[in-house]
Amino acid sequence: MLEDLNELEAQAVRALANAANAAELAEWKGAYLGKQGALTRMSKGLGALPPEQRRDVGAKFNAVRQKLEQAFGEADARLKRAARMDKLEAEQIDVTLPGRAPSVGRLHPSTIVIRNVIETFAEMGFQVWDSPEVETDEFNFGLLNFPHDHPARDMQDTFYVETPPGAPPVVLRTHTSPGQIHAMRRYAPEPLRVLLPGKCYRMEQVTARSEMMFHQFEFLMVGRNVTMGDLKGTLHGMAERLFGQGTQVRLRPSYFPFTEPSAELDVTCFLCGGKGCRICKYSGWLEIGGCGMVHPNVLRNGGYDPAEFSGFAGGFGPERIGILKYGIDDIRWFFSGDERFLQQFG
Ligand code: DAH
Repeated sequence: MLEDLNELEAQAVRALANAANAAELAEWKGAYLGKQGALTRMSKGLGALPPEQRRDVGAKFNAVRQKLEQAFGEADARLKRAARMDKLEAEQIDVTLPGRAPSVGRLHPSTIVIRNVIETFAEMGFQVWDSPEVETDEFNFGLLNFPHDHPARDMQDTFYVETPPGAPPVVLRTHTSPGQIHAMRRYAPEPLRVLLPGKCYRMEQVTARSEMMFHQFEFLMVGRNVTMGDLKGTLHGMAERLFGQGTQVRLRPSYFPFTEPSAELDVTCFLCGGKGCRICKYSGWLEIGGCGMVHPNVLRNGGYDPAEFSGFAGGFGPERIGILKYGIDDIRWFFSGDERFLQQFG
């Protein structure tokens, strides 16, 4: 029987070496170590041995079982290791390949100009104010002294928002000026200095020079004895900060319903220094935006007594400033979402 056991062990070890995968290994285990396996079957003969042999042969059984179990464990580990190596080999990555550079975000040119303007006005004591992009017709026009059916309304082609019959008309604001009324009503009768940046909408034919959506920033100062000289000084400070030291400003008479007197602001062309070039159309001046002294009706609508208070205001387009500052040839680039354009700023 001892010889049979030796023979079985040798045979099992040989068979184990041939097991090439997990299924064959399981089959081997069943055949040799399982309940119906060769070793168990052979151990049934133990009882028939004379007692003096039984101890030695029993011990041999245990030794063989232990040895085969150990061999099985090793084979199992070997196969698992091989499988892992195969997987690593198959899924190998080339760590020397150059990585994909993540694209880094930048500031939009309109944002750059607006932030510049905010800084400039903040230094002069103006605080930034948010006001709604959707306004009643009353705030966008009426309270700003646009009489009903006045032709000045045609200067700003308007998007109307659908409202229930009988409800007051609602518009997408055509300018940031309605923010003036909100700010004044919040602060009156205290003096105030605010800057109102944000989006505006006009039902425009989209061209190289005009978009349906664009930005404006509005500035407003109200107090006692505020004069046109204060307006001009503020604008000069802004122009030097935005366009460089030595920039001159010029106020050209104009018309807006909400200011009296009203003016267009020109600055000396920063490209040619005022000598005249293609950008300033050989005039030496660039038009930047509208401004003026707040109309008494508007002061009143904001809650101030025009006998005691006066103020100045203005509204400029950051895209217009960006176009001039960066030499951009078409306003549509700003909102095209084209990265090739946007990557050039910030
Ligand atoms: N709201 C005017 C526009 O969009 C710009 C403007 C002009 C604003 C004069 C003002 C101002 O505050 O005083 O055309």
